Amino acid sequence: ERLPELLRRMPKAELHIHIEGSLEPELIFEMARRNRVALPYASVEELRRAYAFTNLQSFLDIYYAGASVLITERDFHDMAWAYLQKARADNVLHAEIFFDPQTHTARGVAMETVLNGLHQACVRAQADLGLSASLILCFLRHLSEAEAFETLEAALPLRDKFIGVGLDSSEVGHPPEKFARVFARCRELGLHLVAHAGEEGPPAYVWTALDLLKVERIDHGVQSTKDAQLMRRLAQDRIPLTVCPLSNLKLCVFPALGQHNLRELLDAGLVATVNSDDPAYFGGYLNDNFTQTFAATGLSAQQAWQLAANSFEASFIGADAKRRYR
Ligand code: ADE
Ligand code: ZN
Repeated sequence: ERLPELLRRMPKAELHIHIEGSLEPELIFEMARRNRVALPYASVEELRRAYAFTNLQSFLDIYYAGASVLITERDFHDMAWAYLQKARADNVLHAEIFFDPQTHTARGVAMETVLNGLHQACVRAQADLGLSASLILCFLRHLSEAEAFETLEAALPLRDKFIGVGLDSSEVGHPPEKFARVFARCRELGLHLVAHAGEEGPPAYVWTALDLLKVERIDHGVQSTKDAQLMRRLAQDRIPLTVCPLSNLKLCVFPALGQHNLRELLDAGLVATVNSDDPAYFGGYLNDNFTQTFAATGLSAQQAWQLAANSFEASFIGADAKRRYR
C-alpha cells in the first residue's frame, strides 16, 4: 500500500481543532447574508486572498473577524456539523474540539447559544457518523484573568456539555501563570486541562503550563526541542503534544514543512500527534496535514501508525475505549 493511502485510511483522533477555524469562506458569506452582518470583504475570493499570514497575530486578527458572522444556535451547529463531516471523511473516529466563547459573548451572543449549537452537532455526529466528539472551552489569553473567571461562571450551568478547558490566542506576553487560579478552579471542578504553549512562545511557557496550570497535554509545544531538560520531562511523563504542521507552516513557525521538527519529537520518544488547528485558514484538514507532512519530511509507515496510536492515547476517551483502539 502506498503511504498516502495508509495515512488517509488509518483510524485517528483529532485533538487540536478550533471550531471557529473550520469556518470556510463560503459559510462565512452565507451566514453574513442570513444574519445581515457586514463584512469588510466583497467576495469569497477577496477574503481568501487575505489569508496570507506572517505570524500568529496576523492570523488571529482575520480569524476573529470571520467569527463575527456566528449569531444563532443554528450557525454554531452548522459550522461544527460541516467540520465533523469532513473529519469523518478523513477517518477521524474521535474529535476533541476547541471553542472560544469569549469571541462570541463579547458580541452579545449568549453562552447557551454557543454551547447548545456546538453540542447538538456533536450528538448528531455520534448518531449519524459514529464519530465521538467532545468540546473543550478555551480562555482567550490576551484577555484578563477576571474575564476568564466570568466565562467559566457563565459556562458552569452547561457543565455537562464540555469536558475540559484550554488556553489560546496571542501567546507571547501572556504566559500561562496569568491563568493559574482559573485553572486551579477548573481542576477542582474535575475538568480536563490543556493549554497552547511553545507555539511561538519559549520553552519556559511549556514548563509553567505543566507545573503551574497542571495541564494534561500541551497544544503545539514545538519550541520544546530548544530545551533538552524539558524534552526529557515530556517524554518521561508521557505528556502529549498536539502538533499542527500546516498551521506552523502558514504562521511561519517553520520556514518549510521539510524543516518541521515532528521527526525530532518522535525520535525523542514524545507522544506527538498530528492535528489541523484551523483547517479553513491553513489550507487543509487532518489528512492534508498527514500527507503533506509525510511527503515533505520522509516519515515512514511505522511512524504513521505511531502517530495514530498516539492520538488515541493522548485523547480523553475512557480507558476501555482506548483499549479498543490499540
Ligand atoms: N486560536 C486559533 N488558532 C490558534 C493558534 N494556532 N494559536 C493560538 N490561538 C489560536
Ligand atoms: Zn490552536
